[in-house]
Amino acid sequence: MGWFEAHRRDLPWRRTRDPWAVLVSEVMLAQTQVIRVIAPYRTFLDRFPTVADCADAPVSAVIEAWAGLGYNRRAVNLHRLAVRLVDENGARVPDTLEDLLELPGVGPYTARAVLVFAFEHDVGVVDTNVARVLARWDAHPFHRRAAQDRADALVPEHRGWTWNQAMLDLGALVCTAANPDCDGCPVRCWCAWHGDGADPAVGTAGTGSRQSRFEGSDRQGRGRLVDALRRGPVTDDPGALASVMGWPDDPARAARVAATLVTDGLVVVRDGTFRLP
Ligand code: ADE
Repeated sequence: MGWFEAHRRDLPWRRTRDPWAVLVSEVMLAQTQVIRVIAPYRTFLDRFPTVADCADAPVSAVIEAWAGLGYNRRAVNLHRLAVRLVDENGARVPDTLEDLLELPGVGPYTARAVLVFAFEHDVGVVDTNVARVLARWDAHPFHRRAAQDRADALVPEHRGWTWNQAMLDLGALVCTAANPDCDGCPVRCWCAWHGDGADPAVGTAGTGSRQSRFEGSDRQGRGRLVDALRRGPVTDDPGALASVMGWPDDPARAARVAATLVTDGLVVVRDGTFRLP
């Protein structure tokens, strides 16, 4: 904990316990790097400071505010979540695991992160980085359930917030995937691995889930179309659509991938144009 006090990153979502702000930050952080989240997080909360502000806005405004983050489906889910909380929960973010897991786009990681970082519960938060730290700490790979149990057991009583933020920083700054700094590690004396021999994190559930290649992917074309639609409608002419999506020679692919955006609720077709819903 002394190490954390000295090295902690001063991140905007660490200065609040507001459950909505924490939920927004953790949805963003689940698939986007810290450095790319800081500015959009501030913009998003300026625009939608409360659950009700988000629920009252058209989903297009939430998608617009998601610019720079990628994985835009998260914006649609966050809007659905806000509407649901206004309709069914007095616009409050729930404080139980069971209720959080019922919400659109909220999985085990995000649910526990909200419990810990907003409500200060003493459970473990296990993301890719923490799963790697735990596997190395105990010098054996973990299944997902076992990693969660181990993380829960390590949390010191009443210190869940600090402990889990420290684990995230340890994974991001010291116990990194490619270059762990075992000599500079504050938990070296408790670690069963300390860099000797095969990396126990390899094969641990949750550590191998690198995002798939972006360049040339369907995701890249989806992102290009949503970025274009943030500026205004795009004609449904197949050639124009294919150019916007970066595949001028493959209008069939463009049409197929654009249809997935419609299915996901990110895009609508109206009056011969694609637009935000
Ligand atoms: N990654 C996920 N949640 C985080 C947090 N609260 N702080 C830093 N990095 C994170």
